[in-house]
Amino acid sequence: MNFGGTLRINKFACFTLVFILFLIIYWCSGGGNYPTEKNDLVNLKSLLKAAIYAAERGGQKVIDGKNHALNVKSKGKTLEGANDPVTDADYASHCAMYYSLKNTFPKLTIISEEHSIGDPFCIQQDLLNTESVLPDHKIIDYMNDEHVFDKDVTIWIDPLDATQEYTESLYQYVTTMVCVAIRGVPIIGVIHYPFPPQTYWGWFTKKTSNNIAAVTHKEENKEHPKVVVSRSHPGKVAEIAVKAFGEGATVTHAAGAGFKVMGVVNGTYDIYIHATAIKKWDLCAGDAIIRAVDGKLTTAKGDYIDYSSADNVKVSDGILVTRYDHDYYLSKMPKILSALP
Ligand SMILES: *[C@@H]1O[C@H](CO)[C@@H](O)[C@H](O)[C@H]1NC(C)=O
Repeated sequence: MNFGGTLRINKFACFTLVFILFLIIYWCSGGGNYPTEKNDLVNLKSLLKAAIYAAERGGQKVIDGKNHALNVKSKGKTLEGANDPVTDADYASHCAMYYSLKNTFPKLTIISEEHSIGDPFCIQQDLLNTESVLPDHKIIDYMNDEHVFDKDVTIWIDPLDATQEYTESLYQYVTTMVCVAIRGVPIIGVIHYPFPPQTYWGWFTKKTSNNIAAVTHKEENKEHPKVVVSRSHPGKVAEIAVKAFGEGATVTHAAGAGFKVMGVVNGTYDIYIHATAIKKWDLCAGDAIIRAVDGKLTTAKGDYIDYSSADNVKVSDGILVTRYDHDYYLSKMPKILSALP
């Protein structure tokens, strides 16, 4: 009998078995790491396309709402003592925007100005198209994919900015907004005007929608800056701005943070100043777009805003938005803030 031969075969079988087991354990523990990590990544290009569709869906709800009797309720008073209204259109737009994004990107954190009010149909929203884009936004298809970790993303939505003006039929100020912040920095902003439908977007460090025109820097604008402030700010602001920026300064009162930031983006205004508390969903999309055109949005103290979580949605230090000469205007802000009530 030859025991040695059998032993050799068994040794070989054992070795093979152990080797295969080792491979299985290695694969199961995610030895390559890449396959498991990939599941936690989101493509920012898909997110931009979806954000445009989400803002436009919300805009459609805002248009539809205008044709129905507005059911206006109050959420209380703002710090300026102005009424803070909410309508059925705010809720309808919230449902359309929040749940279309949530259903399409279940793992992402999304923060909205509104909450659903027990309507079971609110969450039943179709998935957003993350592949093809409308002809106006075709340039997105020529951009590179860029993947980020799900956990680093915070999406901010404002389903209806300038609700007060919406109830007053001042529709030009109304916008819907979506913003994508990565580790607290606003990277993608989408601002949609429903009246008439028009969508603007900016992807910081990359591109903007081609309906955003270039604006050239003019040094002499500092002598006669065009300033935009909130409609709810006291009339005194005009007087104070003249004191701070000189006799040449002109002040326009307008509504909607989205509208006012876009006015700076397109060069209609040199600066947008906000003196009282404001919420981050009002600012995030505009912040991303102004950064995409090399402008700046900071507090009146010059700090950037952190959009990483819903822990603190209020900004109380005042706001300054400029496309050019931010530091110059910032140096005048203490004068303005100290003179306001
Ligand atoms: C610039 O933006 C303002 C405010 O959003 C708007 O009223 C105006 O029509 C815009 N102008 C151009 C040329 O886009």
